[in-house]
Amino acid sequence: MNSLAGRDFLSMGDLTSQELSHLLAIAAQLKAGDLSADCPRQVLGLLFRKASTRTRVSFSVAMVQLGGQVLDLNVQLTQVSRGEPIRDTARVLARYVDALAIRTYDQQELAEFAHHADIPIINALTDWEHPCQVLADLLTVQEAFGSLAGLTMAYLGDGNNMAHSLMLGCALMGMNIRVATPPDYVPHGEIVKQARELAGDRCEVMLTGDPQEAAAGAQVFYTDVWASMGQEDSAQDRIPIFAPYQINNDLLAMGDREAIVLHCLPAHRGEEITDGVMEGPQSRIWDQAENRMHAQKALLACLLGAI
Ligand code: CP
Ligand code: NVA
Repeated sequence: MNSLAGRDFLSMGDLTSQELSHLLAIAAQLKAGDLSADCPRQVLGLLFRKASTRTRVSFSVAMVQLGGQVLDLNVQLTQVSRGEPIRDTARVLARYVDALAIRTYDQQELAEFAHHADIPIINALTDWEHPCQVLADLLTVQEAFGSLAGLTMAYLGDGNNMAHSLMLGCALMGMNIRVATPPDYVPHGEIVKQARELAGDRCEVMLTGDPQEAAAGAQVFYTDVWASMGQEDSAQDRIPIFAPYQINNDLLAMGDREAIVLHCLPAHRGEEITDGVMEGPQSRIWDQAENRMHAQKALLACLLGAI
């Protein structure tokens, strides 16, 4: 029985450990060609208030491969841009499309869509979380190591939307996560609490200011831009603050010999990660980007009740 049919996916914390494992297993099977799923005549709407390459294209291709269609709803061309209330827009769009993937700033706006639309609403990134990315990330780690429980991820950089979803995702899968950030850029306390509750005594959710403490023996290194979308004005000021948190060969050498490197992309080479590490033998960044499509295909198939 697919417990995800008809549900929203607003946060990693919406999933149980079993549901997340199930989604990753489906994604792996779809990728291997061992399973097929069909959503014929179903339509996925994309409503994006921010730029996107991977999320937009991988959702679109996934939906087309499932036999469905995609409508890219340019926000500027909708009445949302002229102030039509979300609660009205949500109810109307729910009469036309079968699911809606939304990229916006405020998690509250996403929650409002979900409250008023009786179709699956998917978080395609907010300032608070980026859970679809983490489905692909965990799939990539699972491919590299065979399983997830007991591994350690070192996340270096900003305590942002990526850090939030990774903390919840790792905790759900029994992976240790060490989040190394400058003191003024720690993840939100609400997420830290939630992740620690999900982790229980299975794994550790550690915050540190020391990149080397995070890196020591880690199997997975992860970073993201130092200034997220909407924070462009502070990008230059952030560079010296975040410089000690760069993933470079010296830091990577402190990890496990088999460690892999992930980045959600887009990357700023020479800032949060060096060109050498991105292009080096430990990088799984391109597989990770490909896995967006497989993971979201599994997500769509489950939410739309095709599996
Ligand atoms: N990683 C990610 O979400 O990329 P886009 O912003 O290109 O969608
Ligand atoms: N933290 C980044 C992630 C981009 C995929 C941002 O929100 O811009």
